[in-house]
Amino acid sequence: MNSILKANQLTKTFDATTIPVHAVKEVNIDIYEGEITVLTGRSGSGKSTLLHLLAGLEQKTSGTIFYKDKSYDDLNSNELTKLRRSDMGFVYQFHYLLNELTAIENVSLPLLMNNLEKKEVLEKSKEILNILGLSHRFTHKPSEMSGGEKQRVAIARSMVHSPSLVILDEPTGDLDSQTALEVIESLKNYVSDVKSSLIIATHDMNFKEISDQTLIMDSGII
Ligand SMILES: Nc1ncnc2c1ncn2[C@@H]1O[C@H](COP(=O)(O)OP(=O)(O)OP(=O)(O)O)[C@@H](O)[C@H]1O
Ligand SMILES: [Mg+2]
Repeated sequence: MNSILKANQLTKTFDATTIPVHAVKEVNIDIYEGEITVLTGRSGSGKSTLLHLLAGLEQKTSGTIFYKDKSYDDLNSNELTKLRRSDMGFVYQFHYLLNELTAIENVSLPLLMNNLEKKEVLEKSKEILNILGLSHRFTHKPSEMSGGEKQRVAIARSMVHSPSLVILDEPTGDLDSQTALEVIESLKNYVSDVKSSLIIATHDMNFKEISDQTLIMDSGII
């Protein structure tokens, strides 16, 4: 099986305060094409930091990251941004939707950044919102939606451009267990349709059922 993302001895130390925080310590991981990797571990164990590093959103202290055999060290920031826009989707732990935009406009953003035609942008955005059970919230703004609805809009936005890799940080944290199960089912179907890989940081044990690889993080170590 082909590796899509690989990290070797990946380390992140935050030095901002007097006591350094070793958030990620010499982590080695391999994410394979079409597979779902679930990352668990206690609060503060380094999951979000690791996901940010893997997406190139945060500077590592040391170690290497390869996306399809290409080292991040060999990409300048423009190239990395381009790669992220075309090939990756990211769901932040705290959604980060744009408050002035409706659900459909928020979901459209990755497609617009990849220069898709307007008609296709609208069709694709509606389709993924439908899959996530949000057909009745197309024109609602974040302030007019519940926490779980916003979370699902963020998930829709991360996948609308059919990226090869979707990184999700606590994607079901704000959902009731029934909706969480439906979202998990949608993610599973998405992966098998698009042959995409998912990395999911979660405390939700329901993800174990769809996981191909489960990693447990403890004080920065896997
Ligand atoms: N910008 C930062 N500066 C300093 N320390 C940080 C920073 N970001 C995170 N940390 C620290 O790094 C450690 C790992 O944090 P991280 O957010 O990765 O944990 P987590 O596993 O995602 O936790 P949770 O389950 O609560 O989301 C924590 O001790 C945290 O306080
Ligand atoms: Mg976190």
